[in-house]
Amino acid sequence: MCGIVGYVGEREAVPVLIKGLEHLEYRGYDSAGIACLSHDRSKFFMIKEKGKLAELKAQLNGVPPQMRLGIGHTRWATHGEPSKINAHPHLGRDSRIALVHNGIVENYAELKSELERKGHRFKSKTDTEVAAHLIEYYYRGDLCEALRKAVRRMKGFFAFVAISHDEPNRLFACKRSNPLVIGVGHNEHFVASDVSALLPYTKRVIYLDDDELVELTPDSVRVTQLQKGTKIQKKVSEINWNVEQAQKGGFPHFMLKEIYEQPRVLSETILERIDDKGNIHFELLPKSTVKKLQKIKKIHIVSCGTAYHAGLVANYMMGKYVRLPIEATVSSEFRYEDPIVGPGDLVVLITQSGETADTLAALRLAKEKKALTLAIVNVVGSTIAREADLVIYTQAGPEIGVASTKAYIAQLGTLALFTFYLARLRKTIASQEYRELIGEFRKLPKSAEQVLKQVDDIDRCARKHFHRKNFLYLGRGYNYPTALEGALKLKEISYAHAHGYAAGEMKHGPIALIDEEQLVICIAPQSKTYDKMISNIEEIKARNGLVMAIGTYGSKALSKLADYLFLIPNTPEIFSPILSVITLQVFAYKIAVLNHRDVDQPRNLAKSVTVE
Ligand code: AGP
Ligand code: GLU
Repeated sequence: MCGIVGYVGEREAVPVLIKGLEHLEYRGYDSAGIACLSHDRSKFFMIKEKGKLAELKAQLNGVPPQMRLGIGHTRWATHGEPSKINAHPHLGRDSRIALVHNGIVENYAELKSELERKGHRFKSKTDTEVAAHLIEYYYRGDLCEALRKAVRRMKGFFAFVAISHDEPNRLFACKRSNPLVIGVGHNEHFVASDVSALLPYTKRVIYLDDDELVELTPDSVRVTQLQKGTKIQKKVSEINWNVEQAQKGGFPHFMLKEIYEQPRVLSETILERIDDKGNIHFELLPKSTVKKLQKIKKIHIVSCGTAYHAGLVANYMMGKYVRLPIEATVSSEFRYEDPIVGPGDLVVLITQSGETADTLAALRLAKEKKALTLAIVNVVGSTIAREADLVIYTQAGPEIGVASTKAYIAQLGTLALFTFYLARLRKTIASQEYRELIGEFRKLPKSAEQVLKQVDDIDRCARKHFHRKNFLYLGRGYNYPTALEGALKLKEISYAHAHGYAAGEMKHGPIALIDEEQLVICIAPQSKTYDKMISNIEEIKARNGLVMAIGTYGSKALSKLADYLFLIPNTPEIFSPILSVITLQVFAYKIAVLNHRDVDQPRNLAKSVTVE
């Protein structure tokens, strides 16, 4: 994972790097570090610190001026514990080159022994330091050449940004699998793991593809093929996100801000894509794909974590309205289980970051097997967005909180839209039903606002239960994935144990947990299984369990049974997960805050999981 950044130009490099790292810190926060150089080629100025960026910033006093070139890193450790010694940047043996890295050099142990035999000694336990030594070993005054030679010896995947003591006006970067984007400015250039670090400076970017190497000076960008050195012409793209979107805007945490953004996100994802006649348009789906989509025989939905839960909801949506065999699979399972996939299949990859390693590998596998691939992605220009045959952006804007909220809502909205789009193409939905659903769909942003009006009540409930260590979530059908998502949200930011179950499974085991101490969160909006949920809740109450329920306005039976009741406006079952999850996000947030957890940067996690 890790966030990396580089700068060459006329500004002071240190503040640029620090600001860049602030925007990338969600990618990892085990340690942070920078290395810079001034034009006079004095030694590298390098500082590193264990822990968050704030720790590094506290060390910034006395930075020498005139640093015009530099690299920075915020780490999510894969090799070697989080510590100052293991923090990046890493230097070569003679400190002539400094390197930051995102990825894993899989054969680092072998390379390390080889270098040790040649007299190299290593300070850290990282694979990155081995890479730094190897690059410097091949360095004869041209860092491009050294990178080419060193990378040829490495197995694994990487994004490297390097500077050399002997080339004080040049920044070098190359990548395989892990993302890198170049920021194009006036007499300055930037490189970073993602665009959020570039937004304060430029909106003109170049996405680096795999096996490309770039050499940046203040006024030039030279991209070449990593192995062969042949020149590559790259396109400059404009990004339409703005800096404000990536700031907290007065909220105590990004997560809370992002929860509150959800009504707007729903409007942008849904309403803007439905025209006055109720037709759905996806700006990036070319007309030529219509025929292919009409002919598909099977749909695979592949994703991780929260995006996987969106995939599970889509399984219900498409199963009902598209009437094709559908399988939702976790990316890490899909890629290794020799999936039965081929021409005529549609593989839908759902991902906020567009960089998740397993989802990317699944996409590549699906393409290899000649399936049609569709990416439902939030980050514009991300690797998965660029590599898939088709792309639909979720338009949630930058999501910074590690716990995904608005991206999930945007995924669900987009998947519902895509379901209706496909159902119409394949004529599996009657016009009347389609029109009614689209009418209800348009109400969702307002309904989401309604749900958010209960924040204070949710807070009161959280205050009574924040000390608990075990939470059980139950749901059925469309809201079984909501139970999984509610539990995931809670455990990742509060560190309490939370388990999501299909309510019908309760009697097959989890009911043994029920006693007067067990809080059970039951997602029971109006649906075809509402009565079954009511029976499940009766069974919990019969065993003295505590029930927090989410239901639809006017659900009498539920209001009699539940100890705490939160409501969503009336909506067709297909849309209920979009509204019911909001209460669970707020609940998880409140519990985490009451436990003094680091909501936006929970321990051990990182926003983009770019390693397996
Ligand atoms: C969500 O709260 C998580 N932090 C995590 O499960 C996330 O959804 C998962 O890693 C997938 O990420 P992606 O959407 O960027 O592919
Ligand atoms: N392997 C490097 C380290 O542990 C980089 C980790 C990463 O990109 O996640 O420092």
